[in-house]
Amino acid sequence: MNVLEFLHTRQSNPHLQGVAPDEATINSILQAGMRVPDHAGLIPWHFTVVKGDGLTKLGKAFKSAVISDGADEAKIEKAAKMPFRAPLIIVISTKFQQHVKVPQQEQLISAGCAAHAMQMAATSLGLGAMWRTGEMSYHPLVKERLNIALHEEIVGFLYIGEKAKELPLKATKAHDDFVSYF
Ligand SMILES: Cc1cc2nc3c(=O)[nH]c(=O)nc-3n(C[C@H](O)[C@H](O)[C@H](O)COP(=O)(O)O)c2cc1C
Repeated sequence: MNVLEFLHTRQSNPHLQGVAPDEATINSILQAGMRVPDHAGLIPWHFTVVKGDGLTKLGKAFKSAVISDGADEAKIEKAAKMPFRAPLIIVISTKFQQHVKVPQQEQLISAGCAAHAMQMAATSLGLGAMWRTGEMSYHPLVKERLNIALHEEIVGFLYIGEKAKELPLKATKAHDDFVSYF
């Protein structure tokens, strides 16, 4: 498949299983994240790799977060299990830099590009991947447990694993209604 075909047919896969990819594969995915457009070369992101015991720790963090919000038993149990939806999660967060020409919103976009690039890298390697956020992304307790400063943003939890099933290709979205020429 050439690159254009790949971009035209990309899609997420939330049905993930297996063990975490090996170190070389993870490094290759991370390197794709490092390659994104980055105004002034600020590298305004941080990647936290979560696998093995890290998934249990993240589950505990999610659990503590929802408990602190007064969640019921069902939600607490669900929160603790969430990280186990994949054998590997890369947490993409911002690392905002002060720069006279580069506002935080541009830095946030770059971090988002990194999440996308890593999802595409994982997909290109035959893995499945799903970008998730949800309330855990915005929770101060989760940031604290992940050693992410409260003023930073968690851009996403990128769940990666072997595909438990191949999904049918989604229909193409026609661009006509979303484009104008000036
Ligand atoms: C910033 C961001 C956050 C997202 N958070 C979630 C999420 O928490 N849960 C979810 O089911 N999908 C979430 N999605 C959407 C999925 O990643 C995915 O794009 C969507 O299900 C459409 O599938 P597709 O990528 O195959 O087109 C998020 C997407 C983005 C860009």
